[in-house]
Amino acid sequence: MKSAKPYIQENKQRFIDELIELLKIPSISADSAYKNDVIKTAEVVKESLEKAGCDLVEICETPGYPIVYGEKIIDKKLPTILVYGHYDVQPPDPIDLWDSPPFEPVIKTTDLHPEGAIFARGSCDDKGQMYMHVKALEFMTQTNQLPCNVKFMIEGEEEVGSESLGWFVERNQEKLKNDVILISDTGMIAPDVPSITTGLRGLSYVEVEVTGPNRDLHSGLYGGAVANPINILTKMIASLHDENNRITIPGFYDNVDDLTDAERAKMAEAPFSKEAYRSAIDIEDIYGEKGYTTNERNSIRPTLDVNGIWGGYIGEGAKTVIASKAYAKISMRLVPNQDWKEITKLFKNHFKSIAPNAVKVKVTPHHGGQAYVTPIDSLGYRAAEKAYETTFGETPIPQRSGGSIPIVALFEKELKSKTILMGFGLDSDAIHSPNEHFGIWNFLKGIETIPQFYAEFTKLSE
Ligand code: BES
Ligand code: MN
Ligand code: MN
Repeated sequence: MKSAKPYIQENKQRFIDELIELLKIPSISADSAYKNDVIKTAEVVKESLEKAGCDLVEICETPGYPIVYGEKIIDKKLPTILVYGHYDVQPPDPIDLWDSPPFEPVIKTTDLHPEGAIFARGSCDDKGQMYMHVKALEFMTQTNQLPCNVKFMIEGEEEVGSESLGWFVERNQEKLKNDVILISDTGMIAPDVPSITTGLRGLSYVEVEVTGPNRDLHSGLYGGAVANPINILTKMIASLHDENNRITIPGFYDNVDDLTDAERAKMAEAPFSKEAYRSAIDIEDIYGEKGYTTNERNSIRPTLDVNGIWGGYIGEGAKTVIASKAYAKISMRLVPNQDWKEITKLFKNHFKSIAPNAVKVKVTPHHGGQAYVTPIDSLGYRAAEKAYETTFGETPIPQRSGGSIPIVALFEKELKSKTILMGFGLDSDAIHSPNEHFGIWNFLKGIETIPQFYAEFTKLSE
């Protein structure tokens, strides 16, 4: 495979302009007010795949948002790469904290992106990273170098749990048959420290509701004599961690896969600066489970976090009231061997058991998924390693990430193939946050590296 560099240099401006057009459509899957925009985005993705050289592109209807499927099959005897990505994005709020409107992309330089970064919701997660694959395919077809078959499966519900994708994969095993799955929806350590993501955490997401009296009460007339659901809820939540920041739910750690000392030592070789970590998010000190490093805490260890909590009076001024109800949304990040359905059950039983009789507790599970780890001796991993060596001039570091792409474990179960996570975002790119951005250098480096993966994977498969 010839280097894509000259082709990228020639077409750079057009690539950026096309991505900017895609980023202008607010494909927010969580908010039904944007339904038409989500569907329109699927259309735009379809057209881009057609232009990039796919022979067949379809909008596949599902019970939810459509899945864009595309393929270019050049020879049944050659290996097939299945590219997965998502065209939906997170809601942009809190919108006031954006320096420019989330769906009016602008290019600005930052310390980590001296060549400029595109600021827009979805720029890094995942439209920008997904589009690298479309442009990599364009390069390979335009220069007659596509070495193997390729299938694309781009969904519109990743940010809300990928329910329809599970439905789709179960029903289309033959259509989706492949030799390796390739995803760019994660990050890398730093521009000069290439890394390949080898693990994703699982997830269990629940909502809890604590009910006290049947109506809001005067906090003077009743205060002290009835259970205040907000007091109780916060006390219950606080009890979910002990003094070492370990989770107190009985059985929670039972199946956790512990790493060997050798594996932990290997992990500790990845460059990490506590100072830089602290200052980037403006905290005085780090915090977490006793006995583990920051990198371990946010990748190989399970967690429990409150994502939102509400109840009572939050309007202007003061209102003396004991609310009838209090609520919280809680997520648990899981590691290999923890079963998310089992953990959800453990949480539910425990949370109900610690509630005093004075309140009623309801626990509603949302979505979840299993953790994933990929071996570093698979064909796919070795091909990715070689691809990075060619374009970065350095061997990439395997890195387990703290984020989740729950569908990846399901791919392995249903399609029986390994997933390679070639992410090009940086942790500081602010995905899910205001001012999300994606470096132009990263975008172009991805387009350059992906075709090398195709070539190496095809060679290793011979
Ligand atoms: N692309 C992210 C996941 C990610 C980001 C993994 C960076 C590793 C590094 C994905 O879009 C995402 O946000 N996933 C959700 C889970 C989903 C069920 C909403 C997450 O991790 O919170
Ligand atoms: Mn994503
Ligand atoms: Mn996301």
